[in-house]
Amino acid sequence: MKNKNIYDVIVIGSGISGLNVANTLSKDKKVLVICKENSWDCNTFYAQGGIAVPVDESDIESHIQDTINAGAGLCDKKAVRVLCEDGLRTVRDLIDRGCPFDRDESGQILYTKEAAHSRNRIIHSGGDATGREVHKFLMSENTSQLLYNSTVTDLLIEDDICHGVRVWHNGELRNYYAKAVVIASGGVGSIYEYHTNSKTISGELQGICLEKGLELRDMQMMQFHPTVFIHSLGARKQLLTEALRGEGAHIVGKDGERFLFNYDDRGELSPRSLVSRAIFEYKKKYGGEVYLDLSMFDKEFFKKRFPTIYFNLKDLGYNLPEDRVPISPAFHYAMGGIKTDLDAKVPKMKNLYAVGEVANTRVHGANRLASNSLLEGLVFSKRAVKSIESEKFDFLVKEFDVKEESLVKSGDKEIKNELRTLMWDSAGIIRSRKKLEDTLIKIDSYLDTDIGKFLRLRLKTSRNIVKSTIFQKESLGACYIID
Ligand code: SIN
Repeated sequence: MKNKNIYDVIVIGSGISGLNVANTLSKDKKVLVICKENSWDCNTFYAQGGIAVPVDESDIESHIQDTINAGAGLCDKKAVRVLCEDGLRTVRDLIDRGCPFDRDESGQILYTKEAAHSRNRIIHSGGDATGREVHKFLMSENTSQLLYNSTVTDLLIEDDICHGVRVWHNGELRNYYAKAVVIASGGVGSIYEYHTNSKTISGELQGICLEKGLELRDMQMMQFHPTVFIHSLGARKQLLTEALRGEGAHIVGKDGERFLFNYDDRGELSPRSLVSRAIFEYKKKYGGEVYLDLSMFDKEFFKKRFPTIYFNLKDLGYNLPEDRVPISPAFHYAMGGIKTDLDAKVPKMKNLYAVGEVANTRVHGANRLASNSLLEGLVFSKRAVKSIESEKFDFLVKEFDVKEESLVKSGDKEIKNELRTLMWDSAGIIRSRKKLEDTLIKIDSYLDTDIGKFLRLRLKTSRNIVKSTIFQKESLGACYIID
């Protein structure tokens, strides 16, 4: 076939997982990285806290145990061991490649603490700009072709072989072919009313997988970050990193009371599912706001250690650390995703891989331990690369028609907004079966109307989250059901 759109590897997504795949493949590979908008429109870019990593060999078992404890019984222990053992090597490799992490005056890497970690083991960069700095570094390393403003509309699959992807690029449809396709497109943030995710993250690839008969697993396991400033315009809400609490910030009610101890002895350092629920319930019971109290921080220290939060909140009229910041939990991270093995391969499909938030290896179980996500992205992207490099692809491009149904229709925007509210109310922090059943009926009615493909994919992913929650017999980790 004479076609210029043929690659060795196509990567969907330019976050830590996608870029690390592209950057660590051997240089003789022809690689295409597909970005929905710009390369920085990904969840990695907005990550604040850092990368959790065993401090040394002796910390591996403890990191494994903390991850399993947070995961509430749903973690795959083998996957967790891979995360922590490979993690130490993989992060050392990233540091050796030149990625800058914050250090003390003597040049030693600084480690901070976040909730449910039994010791300080979170490395960070640019203070609270870890995601942005890591992304900048990975972009500086990148030599692959980047295709901007391109949304994947389909995976080109026949006879259980993935041959490539179809893309909507600047008003034009194109097919791109490859020996291996790596999905690294992130989670589902935009299907929730309040979230911390990049606006490009909306669960379409998960919807495509459902339509292709590929398994999504643990989709009921959606994580809500406890400390988010939600009173701003714009879809993405301002995250207030868990490292703030790790370094001493308090969560207080309107009279300054630290009420979290009524829920768990660990107070501000309880696992995030617990803190999110406590805030949600407290607000419901007493009304009014709950705040993050930062007044214990020295101003100059705060500005240097948490510059993103300092300046973003300054723009919103807050003088930190003196002012208390009203907070709410918001959707943050999908533990559920495309089922993969520990080499990031999608089962029952040749040439298809998934890595990072979009994938599900059960490494996070029912509740992800803070800052394990960037680590997951690094570790499993490297494993995907190793697997791709060892594969002997018998590559026979099968050409697919370049045609597609209507991607967007006139009433889609309204339904999209209704869906966000529905998902927040029924598949959010505290869920009831009655509301979930009602949402399912509503989603099915939307699916029966004349809608575009992008909305249909979003609806199918949402439907899967709702159905998986209904199937969940009792509350577990982040999936809390009251009846
Ligand atoms: C944070 O900085 O609190 C987020 C870290 C994470 O999502 O793991």
